[in-house]
Amino acid sequence: MRLSSIINLAVAGISLAQSDQKPLGPQPKSNKRPNIIFILTDDQDLHMDSLKYTPFIQKHLIKEGTFFSRHYATTAVCCPSRVSLWTGKQAHNTNVTDVNPPYGGYPKFISQGFNDNFLPVWLQQVGVDTYYTGKLFNAHTVWNYHSPFVNGFNGSDFLLDPYTYSYLNSTYQRNHDEPVSHEGKHTVDVLASKAFGFLDEAVKHAADRPFFLGIAPVAPHSNVEAATLDGDLGDIGDIEKAVVFTPPVPAERHAHLFADEKVPRHPNFNPESPSGANWVRKLPRQSPENVEYNDHFFRQRIRTLQSVDELVDGLFSRLERYGLLDNTYVFYTTDNGYHIGHHRMQPGKECGYEEDIHLPLIVRGPGVEAGKVADIVTTHVDIAPTLLDLVGAPIRADFDGEAIPLGAEEIDAAAETRHEHVTVEYWGFAASEGKLWRKGESRLTLNNTYKALRIIGEEYNFYYSVWCNNEHELYDLKTDPYQLHNLLHPDEAAPTEILGVPFAKVVSRLDSLLFVLKSCKGQTCTRPWQALHPTGNVQNLKDALAQRFDHFYGEQQKRVSYDRCELGYILDAEGPQFETDGLVYRHGARWDEWV
Ligand SMILES: *[C@@H]1O[C@H](CO)[C@@H](O)[C@H](O)[C@H]1NC(C)=O
Ligand SMILES: *[C@@H]1O[C@H](CO)[C@@H](O)[C@H](O)[C@H]1NC(C)=O
Ligand SMILES: *[C@@H]1O[C@H](CO)[C@@H](O)[C@H](O)[C@H]1NC(C)=O
Ligand SMILES: *[C@@H]1O[C@H](CO)[C@@H](O)[C@H](O)[C@H]1NC(C)=O
Repeated sequence: MRLSSIINLAVAGISLAQSDQKPLGPQPKSNKRPNIIFILTDDQDLHMDSLKYTPFIQKHLIKEGTFFSRHYATTAVCCPSRVSLWTGKQAHNTNVTDVNPPYGGYPKFISQGFNDNFLPVWLQQVGVDTYYTGKLFNAHTVWNYHSPFVNGFNGSDFLLDPYTYSYLNSTYQRNHDEPVSHEGKHTVDVLASKAFGFLDEAVKHAADRPFFLGIAPVAPHSNVEAATLDGDLGDIGDIEKAVVFTPPVPAERHAHLFADEKVPRHPNFNPESPSGANWVRKLPRQSPENVEYNDHFFRQRIRTLQSVDELVDGLFSRLERYGLLDNTYVFYTTDNGYHIGHHRMQPGKECGYEEDIHLPLIVRGPGVEAGKVADIVTTHVDIAPTLLDLVGAPIRADFDGEAIPLGAEEIDAAAETRHEHVTVEYWGFAASEGKLWRKGESRLTLNNTYKALRIIGEEYNFYYSVWCNNEHELYDLKTDPYQLHNLLHPDEAAPTEILGVPFAKVVSRLDSLLFVLKSCKGQTCTRPWQALHPTGNVQNLKDALAQRFDHFYGEQQKRVSYDRCELGYILDAEGPQFETDGLVYRHGARWDEWV
């Protein structure tokens, strides 16, 4: 039986069929619904082994829970990723695509109407008490936190800009109170005491009502001092001048750990030959001084994570003391990944490479197998459906993701049926968060706009992307796990065949899949082949590769392309559009014009 069905049985009395957003009436007296604690770090990597340095996370979560080894962000930057996480929607459906206005940030979240329509609000509607502390969104500031206040939380204590990334001078803002500065204290220690306080509060009602507690430390994000920011960042030029990134700042007690650690030297670390596409491919190799500085940057990250590790230990000892371990799910993930030196890039995120999109996701709780590594494909837009499912709330039709199975049996069953792709999308700039090493170098790279997909089946493992300048990328991660050979770059030798099929035929399928995904809504995002083959005879890439579809994919489809680069989701810059009521196109380049 599905884990969630067991939980649903325990909440008999609540009509699960109900799909509108009205409160669901009186809650059962004896409440067996589970509690949820959700820990969301900021910019934590999987590919530089950050989890190796956090023994409590290993002890309480990895050893006692299930590690989802193919978990992905859909947009590799804080605010869009978090909005997708808390709404269950791809960024092209939230249109919160940037960290700052006009295309993103808290003001855009508000103007898109999500303050009445996101996870904590839905949880409260089914009788879950909700608490949150730490960073919610970017551009949520000491100036705008009350206009309006964030909805949906019984208790909240948010980190606010411009002090969000000030490790030793954070500002938190509790409920409807005024912001409070914590000068001289380490932000993660401040956060831990707030998180424990909310847990104590939630526990008072836990016999009757389940709780959700979100904990969002800023570690291991770069440090950004408030002195460089003010309330009125006008355009990109202002942001570039104002935002000065420095390495994250650990608590004093961790400042001297890991003195010999370095960024793992994977083959794509500062490689001898250029790799990637667009601006990435033009980067010079980093000098030894640059690499040394970046190793320091790396150490500061794993040092700041020590505070998070202690927070996790503190949480579990409290859960144990309260006797809540058997009825509480604990999720651990991050908003996006991070690269340092990969493909010669300076410290940062915002790219589509594995380092930036492939993330830790660990879940521990009732019915979750201890020590399991699950290899089904999961994404951040699957999280909101998962959490609603756990508390027996209705799943919304407009979710772009689907609930992640948590029990071992369900996970194994899902391996046969679950989607095998991730929709990745990005608009705007990439920021270089390290030092600037070249004269006249700019911290921001514009035209970092792209659509991409990851697809992982038994026989294949690809990353395919189209940039706004219409450069293309394809990596075969089965043979090239470090994404060093972009098979669609003119300087690379493309294979004649992949999967026993001519190379161009594989690419045509991937392009058509991306064509659907880049504007998908609801179920089309998880069942895109259905949109291409409404009779249901194609369920995955393997099916689509059948020779009888060669003409359909090779000749009949328009290709993904852009008319120009924009910093946000400007539809008429984005070339032909797929419409779900049939294959309707505006215009666009033919496949054979660029392959
Ligand atoms: C939490 O907030 C909801 C919605 O306002 C309310 O119904 C519920 O009673 C609150 N819970 C507690 C413990 O105050
Ligand atoms: C710390 O933040 C407060 C505002 O929250 C500010 O007034 C103060 O100047 C800051 N201190 C430093 C050392 O920047
Ligand atoms: C960025 O894109 C714009 C619009 O497509 C184009 O005019 C400009 O030349 C591009 N800049 C770079 C550095 O590629
Ligand atoms: C997304 O938001 C921007 C900024 O408000 C707006 O210009 C754009 O038209 C929106 N895109 C879509 C597809 O609605």
